[in-house]
Amino acid sequence: MDCSSAGAKAAQFLAQLVFPLTESYRLLIASCPISPLMIDDTRNDFDKEASFFDDMHPERDAEFAYYRERISRPGVSVLDLACGTGAVTSHLADAGATVVGLDSSAKMIAVAKERVPNATFVVGDMRDFNLGQRFDLVICAFNSLQHMLTGQAFRAALKQVKRHLAPDGVFCFDIFNPAPEFLVTKRQNEFVRRVFSTAVNATCDLYEDTAYDPEAKILYLDWRLIGPEGRIVHQNRFSMRQVFPDELSAWLGAEGLSVKAKYGDFSYGAFSEASHHQVITAGHS
Ligand SMILES: C[S@@+](CC[C@H](N)C(=O)[O-])C[C@H]1O[C@@H](n2cnc3c(N)ncnc32)[C@H](O)[C@@H]1O
Repeated sequence: MDCSSAGAKAAQFLAQLVFPLTESYRLLIASCPISPLMIDDTRNDFDKEASFFDDMHPERDAEFAYYRERISRPGVSVLDLACGTGAVTSHLADAGATVVGLDSSAKMIAVAKERVPNATFVVGDMRDFNLGQRFDLVICAFNSLQHMLTGQAFRAALKQVKRHLAPDGVFCFDIFNPAPEFLVTKRQNEFVRRVFSTAVNATCDLYEDTAYDPEAKILYLDWRLIGPEGRIVHQNRFSMRQVFPDELSAWLGAEGLSVKAKYGDFSYGAFSEASHHQVITAGHS
């Protein structure tokens, strides 16, 4: 079967809906490379992700601790941008902060509201919103800024951060540090991790396909959660802009923000080219 045509890809997709993922079908998928041209959907559907998200990302303790440590005193006002299901918001609120969470997905916000009843939540787009308030701390955790797929979108979000940040306010965020050798390696049906999904009440295996478009600097990820008997119980697609350190500094500078501290991980390790993350504290220039 020629898997290089869009028709074959569509047939593959339909077959995936109809047939459970048998071992031979799994091999067929593995033999058919995905092309970024076929994955032209740059919209990340986080509504679809809401009931799966927390279980899919079980090991975030160092990150939670890092963000919690940003709360210097009770009553600090915090804007949690792209707050998702409130995973970080809950730690900030527990540490005594007064938190507003903003996210474009109404379903993610619904989960967050249940989880953190003492925070305020708003459905909104981080590229264009006005809360009419300035915050001591603005955070954007878990690579969320990478869902700004163009420089224009990324800078629009930074503009909103700037105008919602108090004069001495601090902007803390993390994004991945692009790893060229990782990006150029296409992955097909690669095992990521085993998780227990409360949404389907079963232990499942997460598999991914990845493809990188070096011109747009976008990494496309297809995720499949495989449940009992090889069935696909959930699947989703994500697109993540890869933001290189120089580009990031330039965009921050252009929006009147500058880096005050930069780490390579959530334990305050020094940032280097080999770091997995860019963990940044910024403020008004
Ligand atoms: C990877 S999740 C991270 C959620 C949360 N920050 C956390 O640490 O668990 C990314 C979040 O970004 C949100 N998002 C994506 N684009 C957005 C936009 N333009 N405005 C606001 N939120 C957005 C998604 O809805 C999703 O909840």
